[in-house]
Amino acid sequence: MSLLTWNHACSVGVRAMDDQHGILMDAMNELRLALVHGAGREQVSKLLDQLIEFTRMHFASEEYLMEQAGFPELAEHRRLHHSILAQILEAAHRLQYGEGVEIRPLLCYLRDWFIEHIESTDRLYGPWLNEQGIG
Ligand SMILES: [Fe+2]
Ligand SMILES: [Fe+2]
Repeated sequence: MSLLTWNHACSVGVRAMDDQHGILMDAMNELRLALVHGAGREQVSKLLDQLIEFTRMHFASEEYLMEQAGFPELAEHRRLHHSILAQILEAAHRLQYGEGVEIRPLLCYLRDWFIEHIESTDRLYGPWLNEQGIG
């Protein structure tokens, strides 16, 4: 799996959210590197927990901004966030309790939702927020 890199196409038009997306990318890359270097389950679990924490904070930030701006598609966006987080939490839980978790497919899944979510869903709020003076 390749490293995630920032490029202009990733911008959602809201600076603070672009910054947070960059932080999430870094956290995913760190997890990926740990796997490449054969890190143990404990370290992988720690990095995954960190990623979950960042993801949770990021989703809360986005939802707060959308709420402030009266974004009409907030409910649907929030539903997507819930479902993404639930899947990551489930995998982390299984990992923590020693159940078989294929971490590489999980990482691929994380990367895919991340790119897909930013490009198709997060981008929708950009123009609306910009119009409310949030950029
Ligand atoms: Fe986002
Ligand atoms: Fe989002």
